Amino acid sequence: MPELDLPQRQATDTRMLTGFWYRALPAERVHRNQLRKATLLEIPLVIGRDRQGQPFALRDSCPHRGMPLNSGKFDGENLECPYHGWQFDVHNGQCQLIPSLTSDQTMKVDRIYAGSYPCEEQDDFIWVYIPDPGLPGAGFSKPAQACEPAPTIEKFSEKYKLAYLQAEMPVSIDHGIIGLMDPAHGPFVHQAWWWRSRHSIHEKKKNFEPIPKGFRMAAHTPSSNSAPYKLLRFYADADSISTTIDFVLPNIRTEIIRAGKYWFSSLTTVTPIARNHCRIDVVAAWNLFRWVPFVPGVLKFVFGKFVEQDRRTMEMQAEGLKHNPHLMLIDDADRPAKWYFQLKAAYLESKATGQPMKHPMSGPITLRWRS
Ligand code: FES
Ligand SMILES: [Fe+2]
Repeated sequence: MPELDLPQRQATDTRMLTGFWYRALPAERVHRNQLRKATLLEIPLVIGRDRQGQPFALRDSCPHRGMPLNSGKFDGENLECPYHGWQFDVHNGQCQLIPSLTSDQTMKVDRIYAGSYPCEEQDDFIWVYIPDPGLPGAGFSKPAQACEPAPTIEKFSEKYKLAYLQAEMPVSIDHGIIGLMDPAHGPFVHQAWWWRSRHSIHEKKKNFEPIPKGFRMAAHTPSSNSAPYKLLRFYADADSISTTIDFVLPNIRTEIIRAGKYWFSSLTTVTPIARNHCRIDVVAAWNLFRWVPFVPGVLKFVFGKFVEQDRRTMEMQAEGLKHNPHLMLIDDADRPAKWYFQLKAAYLESKATGQPMKHPMSGPITLRWRS
């Protein structure tokens, strides 16, 4: 039967995907010998740096009686719980000392672990790997290993600039992500006299293809409304500029724009903090105008405006979402959102069955919309 031309109804869920790296904190906020709190996927974390500057992430809960460890004493190597003074190695969570034990009490202290997570510093952020929930018996399990390193921004020259922006949004991860991948809100949300008006709306046609755990908008000349594109036009002919945009689970959008030896590359994530709370982090690297002092400021201003417009929109949307509406997803503008839900479902299914993940897209496809 031919598909009816009706919008598809879709309910979001608040499931947050484990088995991935997530951005926890900007690296500059975490100092040597200090502790910071963070939350990822509703897991309370204490994050810090050891004496050598190496970052670490522990569950912010003592395996003894649940005391938050963030107010404990940290000597740059071990963290001491403020309640009964148990000490833990910050890099693997292994218990080092239980002060209440007498010399003839032979409890195996080193078999006890505080929850500990793989932790890496990458492109100005501290990333934490959130493994699938482990076997019960927490307190005696060693930390999980990440199967791959934390994601990095692709760079195309040795020298570059790097900057980041963040915004908190009172919506679930699903809304955060489909908002990020949504091509149709631009003319309505991102208006500014120096940018574009809603009258600049025009028809677009883009080719998409499946990639592992995600999809790619194939290399094309970027939209004349894109900020880096406007800058790159100073350097290169319009048709020598190309951009590729990827989305991959659980939450990563990358955009790479190239024009000869010049490039702009960004890695944006939407991180689930709690069921109805996520945070967007945009980190960009580029080698344009490296010697012109005000350009990072201009880029930060432009991106900052966009992110703020998105944040404000989602804050308003969150009001409507309190009443738990279903969503309507229409073709073709909401197709990326449909793919996101299908990818998420396919990932969860492959976890449940142990079978390889079945990609929801059968091959390349062209989408058309106005924006
Ligand atoms: S609660 Fe941490 S040592 Fe007792
Ligand atoms: Fe937006």
